[in-house]
Amino acid sequence: MPDKEKLVITGGNPLSGDVRVSGGKNTSVAVVPAALLCDEPCTIENLPDINDVAALADILRKLGASVTYEPGRFMTIDAQYVKDSHVGYRDAQKLRASYYFMGALLGRGGKFNIAYPGGCEIGSRPIDQHIKAFKALGAAVDEKGGDVAAEAKELVSGNIFFDIVTVGATINAMLAAVKAKGTTMIYNAAKEPHIVDVANFLNSMGAKIKGAGTDNIRIRGVPYLRGCTYTVIPDQIETGTFMIAGAATYGDVTIRGCIPQHMEALSAKLLEIGVRVTNSDDAIRVRSGGVHRSVNVKTQAYPGFPTDLQQPITALLTTAQGVSTVTETIFNNRFKHLDDLRRMGANIRCMGRAALIEGVPRLLGSPTTAADLRGGAALIVAGLMAHGITEIYEPEFIDRGYEHIEEKLRSLGADIKREST
Ligand code: EPZ
Repeated sequence: MPDKEKLVITGGNPLSGDVRVSGGKNTSVAVVPAALLCDEPCTIENLPDINDVAALADILRKLGASVTYEPGRFMTIDAQYVKDSHVGYRDAQKLRASYYFMGALLGRGGKFNIAYPGGCEIGSRPIDQHIKAFKALGAAVDEKGGDVAAEAKELVSGNIFFDIVTVGATINAMLAAVKAKGTTMIYNAAKEPHIVDVANFLNSMGAKIKGAGTDNIRIRGVPYLRGCTYTVIPDQIETGTFMIAGAATYGDVTIRGCIPQHMEALSAKLLEIGVRVTNSDDAIRVRSGGVHRSVNVKTQAYPGFPTDLQQPITALLTTAQGVSTVTETIFNNRFKHLDDLRRMGANIRCMGRAALIEGVPRLLGSPTTAADLRGGAALIVAGLMAHGITEIYEPEFIDRGYEHIEEKLRSLGADIKREST
């Protein structure tokens, strides 16, 4: 059993300098399983070196694919001889994105048997919309004992109207439909940048997907997908986390290799707070104005304010002047980080889905524990802001979504290190 670790941060230093973001976690964890649809070997570049990507490579190998993976560089996947379509409990539970093997295996060979996915405990996370999509394409789906089994004699095109906007189900519907005979329409689709990235990956193999990034996606089924080399987009949420950390420490940080257009909702909110945000082609510079105003944040599906940045920006708002509200509309239990922020001196009250944050002069370092990925990111932001020493236990949650987080923060002047407990 590897030693447990903790992050140790001595806060109070303004961050400054340049940092380069890695490839996107939420796009990579969809593109890697999607390679099962390819009839030839394909190579994916710019994958972040994070635990979730390594877990997916293991599952692909267990399914019979041959996988060459150089973390942080590329992964080559040859799925031509995959026969298996079962992903067991222990593997599926490792991450939420194991559900993408459902759409990929159904689209590849018309069947799958996969245990319910794991992932951050941020509220109830059913997969009813995923199943609705599979049924619309002609699959019989059976859920029992925590496993989902689906089979389609022949996948046929269909119309899929999602009852709610869902990233995972939108991507899974694309994966299952890309080789289904006829034209499939997806209505009320999610529009996140990684939806577009997955569609671009499939189209670079010869798929015929139009409308990704809008409410309606049209998919014309194709019989064959050729090999390709594809580079995934930079991580929208890592970019946002560094923007928030730069502002929260009253610093001056430039995030390089990002896509500023993906960050508009956060940039606008930071401007409201009194932070200067300057965009260039593939970089964003964030400079604190020295005084932060309280604001109201409400999470929405893209292009609204991302739910994955709700927790980090809450940390920033703990010392803004006045009372801010943060309303989480996507998940029903994404406030687990508030207790630790209160330990650090934050003044936060919860009213249903809204957190009311009354600004305090400063946070004070404290021992804390990450309860989920972005809650852990919020504790890092708070630790960088706080006077004194903050310890963050269970940092493995954070490692699932941020590549080399302490090295990147140290390059910006942060006093952060990883210690064995
Ligand atoms: C993806 O989760 C991301 N995870 C999440 O990021 C992100 O917070 C979320 O999208 C929203 O952007 C990955 O991409 C691996 P949803 P997902 O389906 O697909 C409900 C992170 O920190 N819903 O868009 O699970 C669901 O319960 C993680 O990187 C159903 O009711 O999100 C939620 O309330 C956390 N039925 C809402 O829809 C379904 O069948 C949005 O969920 C599916 C979803």
